[in-house]
Amino acid sequence: MKITVDTVKIVEVGPRDGLQNEKVTIPTEAKVAFITALGDAGLRVIEAGAFVSPKWVPQMADTAEVYAEIPKDPGVEYPVLVPNMRGLERAIEAGVKSVSIFTAASETFNKRNINMSIDESFENYAPVALRARAEGMKVRGYVSTAFGCPYEGEVAPEKVLEVSARLLDLGCYEVSVGDTIGVGTPMQVQGVIGMLLQVIPASKLAMHFHDTRGTALANTLAALEMGIATYDASSGGLGGCPFAPGASGNMATEDLVYMVDRMGIDTGVDMNRLVAAASIIAPYLDHPLPGRYLQACTKGQMPFATAGAAVQ
Ligand code: HMG
Ligand code: MG
Repeated sequence: MKITVDTVKIVEVGPRDGLQNEKVTIPTEAKVAFITALGDAGLRVIEAGAFVSPKWVPQMADTAEVYAEIPKDPGVEYPVLVPNMRGLERAIEAGVKSVSIFTAASETFNKRNINMSIDESFENYAPVALRARAEGMKVRGYVSTAFGCPYEGEVAPEKVLEVSARLLDLGCYEVSVGDTIGVGTPMQVQGVIGMLLQVIPASKLAMHFHDTRGTALANTLAALEMGIATYDASSGGLGGCPFAPGASGNMATEDLVYMVDRMGIDTGVDMNRLVAAASIIAPYLDHPLPGRYLQACTKGQMPFATAGAAVQ
């Protein structure tokens, strides 16, 4: 195994991707405490919510209130999802500095998720990205279903490249390549990344693995070998998309930090504080958190040292 990446940047998506799929309503104060604790753990990019239609995703309806109350540490970026101009206007009104636009590599998923074809989504996002950048905001792009679609099955890597390049053309500083339903496997990951790298530098790519079939860490290792240094992850392994049937949690942030930290790769995250952040949101959920590291902690396993957590 040859890995040259020495620092991994984590984009914490728990408060957005994690909570958008929960059945129970999470109080605004709990989301604020969760985001605050994630910042205290050393995470420097924390998705704070989504200015999407509250009819489509009720769990994100209080994003403006959440954003108003989080501490807004100057060293931390708090991006929010915007699906259209209406969402961007809400983000501007809230004082948000970083937004994410999201489309997909498969038509059916995109239609179910944002009620637009891929081409329509680009017509929709072109003025959104232009206005966001004129407002001085950072714009990130998501390509969902990059490794498989819950409605169409296989997705061509060429389509992932096309959609990623179009997002970068809109001025996105980074494209997050999403395994929305957790079907990807390591060699497939290397195939898709290999194709992307022919045109896009590694520094503009992030990987967004859901762990539905237990392959997220293996896929991360495969992506690390390809030089990718930015990974989306979710506290406790929360997550899923309401419009991707069967999609379960993102790669757990603790599992990612544990693995890369013990490989000598820096994340800047304090493991004890990260675990504390997950324990803030856990009591509000109607199920246990699926993250493996957390489960090992709960079972009283001896902690193994990471840079941020001394053996007790
Ligand atoms: P639509 O129904 O086609 O559009 O939805 P519409 O314009 O007819 O709007 C419907 C209603 O929503 C209207 O209200 C609008 O005013 C309102 P009504 O007139 O019926 O009272 N509305 C809004 N309200 C607040 N904020 C807005 C907004 N826009 C419209 N921004 C739309 C189209 C895009 C709005 C809808 O499909 C939507 O909100 N979709 C978001 C779905 C979503 O959030 N999915 C999860 C995030 S993506 C994901 O999880 C994948 C990712 O993690 C990566 C991966 O895993 O691959 C990122
Ligand atoms: Mg996701």
